[in-house]
Amino acid sequence: MTDKNSYEVTAAEIYEIIEESPTIRTLRLKPEKPIPFKTGQFVELTIPNIGEGPFTPSSSHNIADTMDITIMKTGFVTEHVHKAKVGDRVGIRGPMGTHYPIDEWKGKDVLIMGGGVGMAPTRSLFLSLLDNINDYKSITFLAGARTPADMIYKQHIDGWRKIDKVNFLRSVDRVPEGEVWDEEVCLITKLLDKISIDPKGNPVVVCGPPVMMKFGTMDLLNYGYEENNIYLSMEKKMYCGIGHCRHCVIGKYYACKDGPVFTYDTIKNEENIWE
Ligand SMILES: Cc1cc2nc3c(=O)[nH]c(=O)nc-3n(C[C@H](O)[C@H](O)[C@H](O)COP(=O)(O)OP(=O)(O)OC[C@H]3O[C@@H](n4cnc5c(N)ncnc54)[C@H](O)[C@@H]3O)c2cc1C
Ligand code: FES
Repeated sequence: MTDKNSYEVTAAEIYEIIEESPTIRTLRLKPEKPIPFKTGQFVELTIPNIGEGPFTPSSSHNIADTMDITIMKTGFVTEHVHKAKVGDRVGIRGPMGTHYPIDEWKGKDVLIMGGGVGMAPTRSLFLSLLDNINDYKSITFLAGARTPADMIYKQHIDGWRKIDKVNFLRSVDRVPEGEVWDEEVCLITKLLDKISIDPKGNPVVVCGPPVMMKFGTMDLLNYGYEENNIYLSMEKKMYCGIGHCRHCVIGKYYACKDGPVFTYDTIKNEENIWE
């Protein structure tokens, strides 16, 4: 949805920074006024005198007076995000785009696959579901990272695993010498072999690097998930965020206003969806 919030910038103060991995940190923000959003939507985060970029909140959508955003260092703007300090001020424009239709998922087994920094948008979804856990039959989270050091939200895992109806599995691609890991060592998609969910009629959400989104979707189809129940968070390159510049096109769709959340059946016939 594009509305007046898409243009208006709300100032926010960084009140805490959590270093999640060598390249990923979570900014905990206190906006000057509440920013209500629905999980899956994104905001444009402005670093004053530097620039802005699209990021999905990683906190629950049931909290509007603070917002967490988990950000990987990849280039110019995000380098500056990683130089920011507690007390610095940033700007937030939005929320924008589509969200996960979690009200339609009541009574269902919800599966979430988050790879790398793709765990950030999916943490927002997970926390929003946890707020009303009794509405859902179960929540399974499959989390993947390249190495143990790259795995984010480590400090929360034990607590999440104690919650009734939650199954939280993690894998890393490899364990470099000197790092410790006693969970799975495999591609995140192999974690599907470790779960038993009836795929018919149940939703699954996938967010991560393009290669994981592609092969994850293929594996989910093989597992028996239906195309209209596979929700993809499409993080295409964006500029305006409001449907004007065409930077984010996926065939006939704009990732910024028709997405970023799409079901696989909606976009499967568009060109180059995994690029
Ligand atoms: C809807 C949406 C939600 C996002 N949510 C998050 C999030 O929660 N956390 C997070 O860390 N990142 C997220 N991203 C990606 C983030 O926007 C980019 O990494 C960031 O804007 C890069 O800016 P930069 O100036 O640091 O990098 P640049 O200097 O512009 O580019 C550096 C590298 O990042 C790649 N890149 C640039 N823009 C994007 C983009 N939009 N998506 C993917 N790769 C990009 C470039 O190809 C290049 O390889 C999201 C992107 C979208 C579209
Ligand atoms: S980012 Fe400009 S049209 Fe989507």
